Amino acid sequence: MEPLVILGRGGHGRELLELVLALNAEVPRYELLGFVDDAATGAPEEVHGYPVLGTRAWLAARSPAPLVALGVGVSAARARVVAALAPLGVRFPTLVHPRASVGRHVRMDEGVTVCDGAVVTTDVTLGAHAHVNVGASVSHDCVLGRFVSLAPGVRLAGNVRLGDGCDVGVAASAIPGVEVGEWSIVGGGAVLTASLPANVTAVGVPARVTRTRPPGWQLRTP
Ligand SMILES: CC(C)(COP(=O)(O)OP(=O)(O)OC[C@H]1O[C@@H](n2cnc3c(N)ncnc32)[C@H](O)[C@@H]1OP(=O)(O)O)[C@@H](O)C(=O)NCCC(=O)NCCS
Repeated sequence: MEPLVILGRGGHGRELLELVLALNAEVPRYELLGFVDDAATGAPEEVHGYPVLGTRAWLAARSPAPLVALGVGVSAARARVVAALAPLGVRFPTLVHPRASVGRHVRMDEGVTVCDGAVVTTDVTLGAHAHVNVGASVSHDCVLGRFVSLAPGVRLAGNVRLGDGCDVGVAASAIPGVEVGEWSIVGGGAVLTASLPANVTAVGVPARVTRTRPPGWQLRTP
């Protein structure tokens, strides 16, 4: 059993708890130590029976460090956390829910999570720390960059390419061949019928750009 902590005890972190428990119910694999959370007070606290161990300082003091499952749903925030943890040399598990369907010809890099009911078909690449939320589907030949987040129920047709850090909102969809530049945000329910540049927000049906950010915006804490 490999020791593992979940970073973040918010909704995303608690969903990862369910994912890890579902995996362990199939084959016991992870020794779940508890949650690490920067808002930990030091007072005894627990989440669904698992202790809140402390802040990232707790992690820094552990040698060797446990595996870290990132309970951080927003792409930009997830990237900032990974950058901050880099000096600790922590490793991130690739977690695929037992009820997700992932084809044999799918490449998944470190830290990828695929949640309950998601479908990833064939010849797909999921970059490091990409997150495929519940019930999302990713069809043939899609390429998702690092830190991409697909919210629940997103539908990507074949050959869709999402650059690093794209954050796609609940139930959004993309027709075949659409490309989205890095760190762009797609609103919930949007339908992508055409490609989008980097660093924009787009909403609606069909999706239209409503906002443009300066390159590198994701590095700054809001
Ligand atoms: C698009 C989104 C990211 C907000 O972006 P934003 O740039 O901060 O946009 P604002 O909230 O300032 O809204 C700007 C305009 O877009 C509209 N808008 C926002 N989200 C929209 C959406 N999903 N679809 C259609 N219009 C939307 C607003 O109503 C507003 O319109 P107005 O100017 O006529 O008043 C957010 O609304 C959204 O859709 N998030 C999805 C999050 C999600 O699915 N998370 C899943 C977590 S598991």
